[in-house]
Amino acid sequence: MDLTIRPRRLRTCDSLRRMVRETRVSPDSLIYPLFVVEGENRKEPIQSLDGQYRYSPDRVGEAVAECMEAGVSRILLFGIPNHKDACGSSAWDPNGVVQQGIRAIKAACPECYIITDVCMCEYTDHGHCGILNGHEVDNDKTLEVLAKTALSHVQAGADMVAPSDMMDGRVSAIREILDSNGFETTPIMAYSAKYASAFYGPFREAAGSAPSFGDRRGYQMDPHNRKEAVKECALDVQEGADILMVKPALSYLDIIRECSDAFDLPMAAYSVSGEYAMIKAAGKAGLIDEYRVMCESALSVYRAGADMLITYYAKELAQAMKKGDLG
Ligand code: PBG
Repeated sequence: MDLTIRPRRLRTCDSLRRMVRETRVSPDSLIYPLFVVEGENRKEPIQSLDGQYRYSPDRVGEAVAECMEAGVSRILLFGIPNHKDACGSSAWDPNGVVQQGIRAIKAACPECYIITDVCMCEYTDHGHCGILNGHEVDNDKTLEVLAKTALSHVQAGADMVAPSDMMDGRVSAIREILDSNGFETTPIMAYSAKYASAFYGPFREAAGSAPSFGDRRGYQMDPHNRKEAVKECALDVQEGADILMVKPALSYLDIIRECSDAFDLPMAAYSVSGEYAMIKAAGKAGLIDEYRVMCESALSVYRAGADMLITYYAKELAQAMKKGDLG
């Protein structure tokens, strides 16, 4: 055969294949979601997320030490409070569960970079992501409590805040309160294109944050939409976001690609609880090779244009990257 161009030439050995890889990743881009629960001496397995735990503030340092050991030094912190009420008041309590968790982590491991999830759904007794007016979330009233919450996280020592509520105007509300309190250098990672997804199922069990009535379609995005994601990202850019995010990841690779092409800001993707749970379950059932599917799925998110990946597999992926199975 007279074939001048043979793509297979570049696939002839591992050394060459690794040399010509188009997608390069590093553990520096990984962010590990971590749940902190009130109380003492608690490390509880999360039923819906095999291999994940909730820690009380006095033990959360153990989880962080494991992350650091694996090569992951960035975490996304979620709080599970004891007290819930209609307006989610324990979200901004200076002695609330996240605020305690932040201080404990910083005391145990000052090098750990802490990003906090800012949302009301774990703190409200109705489980919605804001303050209700009848059965609807009141956008503008919610902005005040989100801003107060973000400020209290930063005052407790958080390095970055990540609003996940999908209210209109939350990035500017948070930017304003941080700036007027001397935190103008604290960045905001905006959950910009967050879809109303069934993939959050296991998380809601983990955080006890399922809405008690209705659903989140009045604020999270309709999975049918693409242009709307670009609009949401553009607004967050205008409002002063420092990092954009698309969530979930695997079913939204097209959105990651489009938004990372359209904007100059770093792009994060959140590979959510349902994505993790599916790979775990299929691996456990012997249907797939969990390790290889984990690597391939993460890689697809980076190839789609994500600069950072938030994932429950962060520790395992960091190890895979170090070995060169992904990298
Ligand atoms: C809070 C929040 C959720 C997730 C991250 N922040 C749940 C939701 O919107 O219902 C989901 C994360 C995951 O599924 O891993 N609003």
